Amino acid sequence: MTETASLENQTIVLRSMPEGSVELDHFEFQTAPVPELNDGDILVGVEWISIDAFIRTTFRPGGFHQETPVGAVVGALGAGRVLASKADGYNVGDGVKGPMGAQTHVVAPGAMFELCDEQIAPLQAHLSALGLTTGMTAWVGVRNCGKPQPGDTFVVSAAAGAVGSIAGQIAKLDGARVIGIAGGPDKTAFLTDKLGFDGAIDYRNEDVAERLRELAPEGVNVFFDNVGGEILDIVLDQLALRARVTICGAISQYERTGDVVGPSMYLRLAERQARMEGFAVFHFAESFPEAIAELAQWYNDGSVVMNEQVFEGIEAFPEALLAMFTGKNIGKILVKI
Ligand SMILES: NC(=O)c1ccc[n+]([C@@H]2O[C@H](COP(=O)([O-])OP(=O)(O)OC[C@H]3O[C@@H](n4cnc5c(N)ncnc54)[C@H](OP(=O)(O)O)[C@@H]3O)[C@@H](O)[C@H]2O)c1
Repeated sequence: MTETASLENQTIVLRSMPEGSVELDHFEFQTAPVPELNDGDILVGVEWISIDAFIRTTFRPGGFHQETPVGAVVGALGAGRVLASKADGYNVGDGVKGPMGAQTHVVAPGAMFELCDEQIAPLQAHLSALGLTTGMTAWVGVRNCGKPQPGDTFVVSAAAGAVGSIAGQIAKLDGARVIGIAGGPDKTAFLTDKLGFDGAIDYRNEDVAERLRELAPEGVNVFFDNVGGEILDIVLDQLALRARVTICGAISQYERTGDVVGPSMYLRLAERQARMEGFAVFHFAESFPEAIAELAQWYNDGSVVMNEQVFEGIEAFPEALLAMFTGKNIGKILVKI
């Protein structure tokens, strides 16, 4: 009898490869026995799963992130607690984070995970306000790439989402005038009333180019783009001299497989002596200690607000993922196991 013999792993597997938009029937709930631990392994009881846009890009052969093949557990980051350990440095009860997948239990080498410091923030905050793909991504994109200066006009797209809402708040703390672009009046009200942004544009109901000219008559100094496509072009057309465009992501393009739409307004970069730079958060590991310390301080003193939208139970994972691609979320989407 091992520690794992009586445990059942509940999983969400990919039933078929989505061609365009992701639908609920692309996924299937399955159960499997929890495997035994080899030397160096830990068994984690998953408590929280992070819903991230990159998950969509794993449903494609040859994508940037490791592919999720049909029949496999969907890849996802998570946080949980060590239930059994054969790895140095991990004890039963430790909080850990890392690549856990859409499942209730995971057995894997301890080296794949990191301990969570629960003195600085609760477990789920290590996926949201302090999370690699959320708070840390926003911090790196603002501090290492866009670098807003006091008085700059900083524009962020998908502004009411997880990364966008934190990026805008960091830029405000750094003294910028912040304008968010988001879909719907609830989201724009959240940005101005709850987060204190200086302006917000509802791209579903307003003329973005016209509103941007009103809100940023001197042009945009920093654009933190999460969306790509048409919105990127509209902002490129209104850059100020020596503007910085930070490509964090392009969620409007992730469901397109062979025909990603690139910017047609890129000549504005030359005309405005501007710079466009993309980044992937994991290339900035040297910044993580500083980022996490600052994010934890803001999280605890309330100077950065992280709205969390929680779906209950592993079976809600597909619904939670769809919520992101239909813009139903304000802030970070998490699945609580
Ligand atoms: N560079 C990196 O290392 C890194 C790391 C993590 C995440 N990211 C990127 O950061 C971006 C935001 O990720 P997140 O986790 O914070 O997601 P999120 O912003 O919380 O959720 C995605 C939001 O994007 C908008 N959206 C969804 N589909 C769209 C479409 N077809 N066209 C336009 N807008 C759409 C929706 O907001 P609206 O209702 O406002 O449209 C939705 O709420 C993504 O592009 C992601 O890939 C990059």
